[in-house]
Amino acid sequence: MGNLKDKGLTPGLAVVIVGQDPASRVYVNNKKKACLELGMYSEEYALPEETTQEELLRLVQKLNAKEDIHGILVQLPLPKHLDEKTVINNIDPKKDVDAFHPVNVGKIMIGDYDYLPCTPAGIMELLKDTGIDLIGKECVVIGRSNIVGKPMAMLLLHQNATVTICHSKTRNLKEIVKRADVVVAAVGRANFVTADMVKEGAVVIDVGMNRLENGKLCGDVNFDEVSKIAGFITPVPGGVGPMTITTLMKNTLTAAQKQR
Ligand code: GUN
Repeated sequence: MGNLKDKGLTPGLAVVIVGQDPASRVYVNNKKKACLELGMYSEEYALPEETTQEELLRLVQKLNAKEDIHGILVQLPLPKHLDEKTVINNIDPKKDVDAFHPVNVGKIMIGDYDYLPCTPAGIMELLKDTGIDLIGKECVVIGRSNIVGKPMAMLLLHQNATVTICHSKTRNLKEIVKRADVVVAAVGRANFVTADMVKEGAVVIDVGMNRLENGKLCGDVNFDEVSKIAGFITPVPGGVGPMTITTLMKNTLTAAQKQR
C-alpha cells in the first residue's frame, strides 16, 4: 500500500446501502472500517428505504464514471421494490468488487477471473490454512444463493473436490452432510447443522449470521455440540465474516491496479 500511495494511487471503494436493515448496517460499517485501517479511500451512500430504481441506477452510473472510485459495492438485500438483478447488471464489471455481475460470474465459472466473490474466496483461504488437500474430498455446501452457495461450489470444484449442493428441496440432507469431509453451511437458519449430521473430524464452515430473539448472533451450526466432533470449525461471529472483508479489500486493491 505504501508503494501505491507513493505512486499517487489510493484504492477507492463506494459502498451503497438502501434502507435500514440492521445486519446490512453492521456489514457496511465493518467494510468502511477496514478501508480506513488499510489507508484506502471509501465513500458511503446511505439511501432512504423509499429510493426509486431510477435514483439508484443514476447513482451507480455516477460511481461507474468516478475516477477516485475503483470498486462499487451495493449491499444486498435491497428493499423489495428494487430490482437487484438490474442494479448489479449496471455496475461496471471492472468495478464489481463483489463479483456479482454476470460477466464476472461467467469468468469464475470458466476459471479465468479478475475478482472472486468475497465470502467464498475468504472461505477458500480458511480451508487452505487447515493444510487439508481438497483433491477428491467430499465437500457439501448447504445453500444455493448467488452470493455464497453457488460460487462456493465452483471454487471447491476448481480445487478438484467432489462437490454436492444441498438446499431446501434436498432429500436425505442429513445423510449427505454426514459423509462430508468439508461442510459449508449457508442456510440462514440458526443452529441448523447439529452434531448428528457431521462426520468425526470434518471441517465445518459456518456462514450463518442469525439474530436470536435475545439479540445474540448465532450461526447456522450448533457450535457447542459440533465443535466437539469437528476437526476444524469457524465461530460466529469472528470466523467467515472477517475473511469476507479481507477479500473485499483485496478485490478493491486489484480494481485500483487494473484501472490505473
Ligand atoms: N449481503 C450479504 N453478503 C454480501 C456481500 O458479500 N456483498 C453484498 N454486496 N451484499 C451482501
